Amino acid sequence: MKSVLVFGASGAIGRFLLPRLVLAGWSVTAMSRRPQAAQPGIEWRVGALERDAPSPGRFDAIASCGPLDAFARWFDQTPAGGRPRVVAFGSQSIDSKRDSPDPAERALVARLADAEQRLFAAAAARGCVCTVLRPTLVYGAGIDRSLTPLARHAMRWRVFPRVSFAHGLRQPVHADDLAAACAQLLADDATGARVYALGGGERLAFAAMLERVRLSLPMRCLPVPVPLPLAHALAAFARALGVATTPAAVARLREDLVADDAPARAQFGWNPRPFHPDPATWGLAGRASR
Ligand SMILES: NC(=O)c1ccc[n+]([C@@H]2O[C@H](COP(=O)([O-])OP(=O)(O)OC[C@H]3O[C@@H](n4cnc5c(N)ncnc54)[C@H](OP(=O)(O)O)[C@@H]3O)[C@@H](O)[C@H]2O)c1
Repeated sequence: MKSVLVFGASGAIGRFLLPRLVLAGWSVTAMSRRPQAAQPGIEWRVGALERDAPSPGRFDAIASCGPLDAFARWFDQTPAGGRPRVVAFGSQSIDSKRDSPDPAERALVARLADAEQRLFAAAAARGCVCTVLRPTLVYGAGIDRSLTPLARHAMRWRVFPRVSFAHGLRQPVHADDLAAACAQLLADDATGARVYALGGGERLAFAAMLERVRLSLPMRCLPVPVPLPLAHALAAFARALGVATTPAAVARLREDLVADDAPARAQFGWNPRPFHPDPATWGLAGRASR
C-alpha cells in the first residue's frame, strides 16, 4: 500500500482530499495543529509541521493543502531521504496581486514566489517530482473567508449586495475539483515538475457570481444595489464581519481575475464543474427553503 502525508488536511481542499485518497487505496497520514475527529483510514498526526511532522522520506507522496511558505520551508529544511512525489497548492494571487497598491498583498506575492522557488529547488535536489497548483477563488467547503461569510450574513439579514458595476470576470473553483486533481497527480509522475493555474469551469462577472450566491440561498434575500462609491464602505463593514476583503480587492472588481488552465486541461484532463452553488455549498443544508 502506498503512503501519503497530507499537510493542511483540515482546510477547504484537504477535507475533500482525505476521503479521495482513502478510496484510492493510499495509507494516509494527515497533519493538523489541533486534534481532529477520527476518520476511517486516516492517521492524524497532531502538532506543528516543523516540529512534529514525520520524515518526508517515509512517504511515497506528500500533499500540501495549507500555506505554501510553511510547507516549502519544512520540506527544504528536513533531512533528505526517499523521493516522495510532491503536489502543493499555491495561489493564482501570485499573478492577480502582483501589481497591487496594497503592500501586504505584494508581500504575499513575494512569499508565494519565494516558496515556489524554494520548493522546486529542494525537490530537484532530492530528485522528487514536484507540481504546484495555483487555484483561483476557492469555494465549496463552507469554511472559506470570502463567499461563505457573505452567504451566511445575508441569510441573517435577508438582504444581499448587488454590485452591477463589478464586471470583472471571476473563475471560482470548487475545492473538491482541486482535491480530485491533487489525488490524480499524486499517483502520476508523468505530469512532471511544473506549475499549473487552475480555475473553475465557468468565467462570470463578479456581479453575476454574487447573484448566483444569492439565488442559491434557501431563503429569499432582497438584492440591494450598492454603487461603486459605497462599495469601499461596505467592504470595510464586511471585513469587520470576517469577510477577507481589502480596499485593493474592491478596486479589482472591474478587473478580470481568471486562470489560463488550458495546460492543465491538456496535460491531465482538468475539467472542473461550473459555478452552481446550493445551500450545502455554504454549510446551510437543511435550512428552511425560499
Ligand atoms: N481559499 C482560497 O480562496 C484560496 C485561493 C487560492 C489558493 N488557495 C490555497 O489553497 C490551499 C487551501 O486553501 P485553504 O483556504 O483551505 O487553506 P488555509 O487557510 O491555508 O489552511 C488549510 C489548513 O492548513 C493549516 N494551516 C493554516 N495555517 C497554518 C500555519 N500557519 N501553519 C501550519 N498549518 C497551517 C490549517 O490546518 P490546522 O489548523 O488543522 O493545522 C488549515 O486548516 C492553500 O494552499 C491556499 O493558499 C486558497
